[in-house]
Amino acid sequence: MCGIVGAVAERNIANILLEGLKRLEYRGYDSAGLTVIRDGELHRERQVGKVQALVDAVAINPEFFDGHIGIAHTRWATHGEPAQRNAHPHVSGKIAVVHNGIVENYAELKEELIAKGYEFTSQTDTEVVAHLINDLYKQTPDLLEAVRAVIPLLHGAFALGIVHVDSPEELITVRLGSPLVIGVGIGENFIASDQLALLPVTNRFMYLEEGDIAKLTRNSIQIFADGVEVSRKIHEIDAQQHNADKGEFKHYMLKEIYEQPDAVARTLEMAIDSTNTSKLRDDFLQRHEDKLSGIRNIQILACGTSYHAGMVAKYWFENLTRLPCSVEVASEFRYRNPVVVDNSLVICISQSGETADTLSALRDTQKQKPTGLVSLALCNVATSSLVRETDIYLPTLAGPEIGVASTKAFTTQLVALMLLVLKVGATQQRMDSERLGTLLSELQQLPGQLYASLHLDAAIKTMSESFEDKKSCLFLGRGLQFPIALEGALKLKEISYIHAEGYAAGELKHGPLALVDKDMPIVVLAPKDSMFDKLKANMQEVHARHGELFVFASESSKMVAEDRMHVVYVPDVCETLAPVVYSIPVQLLSYHVAVMRGTDVDQPRNLAKSVTVE
Ligand code: G6P
Repeated sequence: MCGIVGAVAERNIANILLEGLKRLEYRGYDSAGLTVIRDGELHRERQVGKVQALVDAVAINPEFFDGHIGIAHTRWATHGEPAQRNAHPHVSGKIAVVHNGIVENYAELKEELIAKGYEFTSQTDTEVVAHLINDLYKQTPDLLEAVRAVIPLLHGAFALGIVHVDSPEELITVRLGSPLVIGVGIGENFIASDQLALLPVTNRFMYLEEGDIAKLTRNSIQIFADGVEVSRKIHEIDAQQHNADKGEFKHYMLKEIYEQPDAVARTLEMAIDSTNTSKLRDDFLQRHEDKLSGIRNIQILACGTSYHAGMVAKYWFENLTRLPCSVEVASEFRYRNPVVVDNSLVICISQSGETADTLSALRDTQKQKPTGLVSLALCNVATSSLVRETDIYLPTLAGPEIGVASTKAFTTQLVALMLLVLKVGATQQRMDSERLGTLLSELQQLPGQLYASLHLDAAIKTMSESFEDKKSCLFLGRGLQFPIALEGALKLKEISYIHAEGYAAGELKHGPLALVDKDMPIVVLAPKDSMFDKLKANMQEVHARHGELFVFASESSKMVAEDRMHVVYVPDVCETLAPVVYSIPVQLLSYHVAVMRGTDVDQPRNLAKSVTVE
């Protein structure tokens, strides 16, 4: 979703802004722009499409953009189509603004501004902000004060970067509901939606709190909360760890698929004692044991792929601990006045920790103030809003995930969720030590099993050729594989743009069987588990109707390929953890189909990595 970069420095900053935008491309966007102040003027360039188009446009007259202060933006359209006039920065007089988020009351503000004589050149909500600041600046010719006066007039969630020709030393920024970090340099300072954008120029960051307004100059950073100057800690990060290069891979997504054995191993190490692998580490969630011992109910909230991880966790929680567990998409939960029962553990699963719906759903549960509520963030970004707003932080150690389609974040979420199930089970004595030991030893085989499943890549690539010209596809699974069927369908539609649906195979005869014909491929997740025989019957139903089956089956299943039935053997894995391993073939299948169809694999059309608006 929209990305902001800003800089105030001694050196020319155009390339810093452009490189920053490139590093934010993963967020998803449809246009890009920048403004630099030079010789008392705002120099602006905006382009629809990729950041490269902006780089090329700037390169035509690079001297226009030789300046020491500027702001830049990637826009993901909300108000108004992707078009040059709607791309940021938006300008009013001598003021330029970049914006991430939504100003909900922009329509009424716009009317008032039009009545005052302001002319609008875009369809965006952001232009309202630029004109409002301009208007207030006329009464209070101090940029910080003018911005401060505008913020209470805006309803919604947003982050802003603002510059004014008459204050060419000052970059003003606001964080209110959308992510924003300050990068601290030596004699230069920066802002960005994600620290990744600024890693080429600094590894020192300040994370703004909600409602913070900051004024950056080359040599100072002043932060204000409720009008009072406050200090925010500087965090030094290990830039190596946050390295997000594609390396030898053609796409981030493929690199991230291949990183899964290591990412899962890292996530396991956080909880499993290396000296005694049949028990959890003493320090794993130790300081939260009191809270975890009181919970009687689990409520999981998440969106997209993270929601599918939650669906698997529901099976695990109920089966292994007998604690009731509900899982719901956050965008529905937040609007249906749900009941949050006392002593609930609310688990919010989010790769980014900035998903607006998940954050709002969390806040709604907190507002209800049920007795004994414990909130937990299962998140890949330690500095995110979600982590700050919850009682317990359980990290996934996937490392930065750049591809819009989530892969390694998903499998590490699954593993961390299983570790949580084990912790709750052990803390509440709902699981005996033998069961715990068995599951821990099976968990430790996962990195090896994931590694072995990556060897299926070539076979799956061959299989994917059958999907290239297809219009629609079904993914089937039962039990623990049903959420993986949903995830497989989501992956395929996200990156290949083929319509795909995931179904619990037992539901076939209640509708989707009507779709089956020779032109619709049907992917089946068929580990040799307790549901295998029932699933085979479902496959027969499809086969008898001339459907073409593409089956991922256990090596031990003894399934054999036949006419209209293709089989790829997946390494044997215990039933409980099979969803983690079966994620790999569906990810690889979607990837190869997308590459074959020539789509933009890492940044699929219309999608954003981090959905910070509702
Ligand atoms: C977007 C992304 C998905 C992701 C979902 C939830 O739709 O494209 O890949 O699963 O948001 O994101 P989160 O960061 O909360 O896991």
